[in-house]
Amino acid sequence: MPLLDIRNLQLEFGTGRDAVRAVDGVSFTIAEGETLCLVGESGCGKSVSALSIARLVPTPPARYVGGEILLNGCDVLKMDQRELRSIRGGVVSYVFQEPSASLNPVFRVGNQIKESLKLHRPQFATDDEVIRLLKLVGIPAPESRIRDYPHQMSGGMQQRIMIAMALASEPKLLVADEPTTALDVTIQAQILELLRDLKARLRMSILLITHNLGIVGDIADRVAVMYAGQIVELSPARALLQRPLHPYTQALMNSVPQLGHELDRLQAIPGNVPNLGQFPRGCRFHPRCPKAQSDCSQKAPELVEVEPGRWVRCPYWK
Ligand SMILES: Nc1ncnc2c1ncn2[C@@H]1O[C@H](COP(=O)(O)OP(=O)(O)OP(=O)(O)O)[C@@H](O)[C@H]1O
Ligand SMILES: [Mg+2]
Repeated sequence: MPLLDIRNLQLEFGTGRDAVRAVDGVSFTIAEGETLCLVGESGCGKSVSALSIARLVPTPPARYVGGEILLNGCDVLKMDQRELRSIRGGVVSYVFQEPSASLNPVFRVGNQIKESLKLHRPQFATDDEVIRLLKLVGIPAPESRIRDYPHQMSGGMQQRIMIAMALASEPKLLVADEPTTALDVTIQAQILELLRDLKARLRMSILLITHNLGIVGDIADRVAVMYAGQIVELSPARALLQRPLHPYTQALMNSVPQLGHELDRLQAIPGNVPNLGQFPRGCRFHPRCPKAQSDCSQKAPELVEVEPGRWVRCPYWK
C-alpha cells in the first residue's frame, strides 16, 4: 500500500452556476521513501492539490466534490477534526515558498522550532533536540543560532529553519511547495541538496512542487505534470526527462534555460494557461499545442498508460 494514494480528486471553488473546478480528476500515489515532483505553469492546481492532502484548502470557498485521498489507507476527506489535527504535522508537513512570511519575526527561531516539537513530540521539546534539528538542516554553529531572530538570518537560512520546523514532527510525507522559488540560484541548489540528503537519511516521502522542470532531475523519482487542473503526464523522472511524451511536457522542457545555450533559443510556451471555468472544449491544451489535430478541439483525451509506468493524456503523443 502506498503511503499516499489520491484517486480521482475533484475540487471546486464557488457554488452553483459559478462553481469552477480547480482540480479535475487528479490521481497519483507516493510510496514510502519516494519523491514525486508536481510541475506545471502557474494556476494549474499544484498547490490546491497538495494542500488537499491534509485538507488545508479552506471550505468555503472550496468544496471537495469527489474522489479519495488515502493516507496510510485512511480517507482524509472522511476524517473528523480530531483525526485531521493528528495527521497535520504528524503525518504530513508543509514547507512553503516564503520563509519570511511563515516565521514569526518577534520570536527566536529556536523557540519557534520548540513550539513545533511541543505540538507533535512534547517529550523532545528541548534545546538539545532543537540543536539536533538545526544540524540536520545544515545550520552552522546551531548552539548560537538557536537564539537568533528570523531577521538575523539570510533567506536560505530561514528556509532551512522552516524545513527544521516541518521535520520536528517526524512526518512521513514532506510537502515542499516551491521551497526554492524565492531564493537565488546558488541557495536554491543548496536547499535541493538538503532535501535530497534528508530523503536518503530519513526515508521520508517528499512531494516537491515546482514550475521548473530543470530541477526535477536532481531529486525526483517520478514526475506528475499538471495542466489546467488535470495531470497530463505521469512518469518515472529519468524517462520523462530523456523523452517527454506529452506536447505540454515537451514545451515545458523547451522553456527550461540550459547552461551554455544562447538565451534566444529559450522558448516560452505561446499563449496562456486558460482561466478556471474557461477551459476550451476537447483537450485543454489544444489551443497552445503545436501537434494539435482537428479532433483535439472536440474530444477530451483520457490519461492512458502508453508504456509501463508512463501515463499520457494525449492520443497523438507518438
Ligand atoms: N481560495 C481560492 N479561491 C478561489 N480560487 C482559488 C483559491 N485558491 C486557488 N484558487 C484557484 O485555483 C487554481 C489553482 O491554483 P493553485 O494555487 O493550485 O495553482 P498553482 O499551480 O499552485 O500555481 P502557482 O504556480 O502560481 O503557485 C487557480 O486558478 C487559482 O486562482
Ligand atoms: Mg502554487
